[in-house]
Amino acid sequence: MRVIETIQEMRTFVSAARKQGKSIALVPTMGALHEGHLALMRCAKAQCDIVITSIFVNPTQFGPQEDLACYPRDLAGDSEKASGVGVDAIFHPTVAEMYPNRYASYVYVEEITDKLCGLSRPGHFRGVTTVVSKLFNIVQPDKAFFGQKDAQQVLVIDQMVRDLNMNVQLEIVPIVREDDGLAMSSRNRYLSTEERSAALVLSQSLSLAERLVHEGERDIAKIRAAVVSVITEQPLANLEYVEIYSYPELESASTLSKKALLALAVRFGTTRLIDNIILEAS
Ligand code: PAF
Repeated sequence: MRVIETIQEMRTFVSAARKQGKSIALVPTMGALHEGHLALMRCAKAQCDIVITSIFVNPTQFGPQEDLACYPRDLAGDSEKASGVGVDAIFHPTVAEMYPNRYASYVYVEEITDKLCGLSRPGHFRGVTTVVSKLFNIVQPDKAFFGQKDAQQVLVIDQMVRDLNMNVQLEIVPIVREDDGLAMSSRNRYLSTEERSAALVLSQSLSLAERLVHEGERDIAKIRAAVVSVITEQPLANLEYVEIYSYPELESASTLSKKALLALAVRFGTTRLIDNIILEAS
């Protein structure tokens, strides 16, 4: 497995693979790889000849008060994990390589970035769509793999790909959870033992919502209130948002008619976790 640090070298690697007629998958990540990322890489390997994963802690998607400086970085550990699932190359550029002096161009998707994480993390999705566009331009993959854990990110990138006629097929991989239900996240490692066990309230509240829908509840305010009440009963949980929107449009609705995204963000100490589920009225 190659570790490539420059855009030029990445382009040379991709063009050699293309000359051999190989299909190319890209799995964009910020590193600190866990089973959720490895699931993306395994899917990518099953569908394409060459798998490239980017490991780049993208500064433009972090707000000034966020965890950019202490975001976990472990290239040696990540390389071992990626090579274990058959990744062919890691793209690991420096910040200066991606955002040289006088960098001035950004990609911005309107409307669906105005809610959920877009509200609590202003500028976050502009950073995501900018770096993902750059990665698509550099690697020019046939397919790119993203996790459903970041449900809004998936919708924003999908909107960008359609609006800007990007020639890449998006593949969305289901959330991978620990045995006890906690969704895998690079930020889980920040949690203390007490916070880690308190964080189970997230998947428990989503399961409750799913059960209510299964039992026939269609009133979105009631489903939301039930989720909020489970989370706020947990003393270590500091609720940022719980919202239910039509899926995939992300529009407000009072009644669950077909699919809806129930998404939440909750802080445990200084650690912000997100989780979600698609609710479906049968
Ligand atoms: O989901 C992530 O890890 C990041 O937002 C992404 C897509 C790699 C862009 O930096």
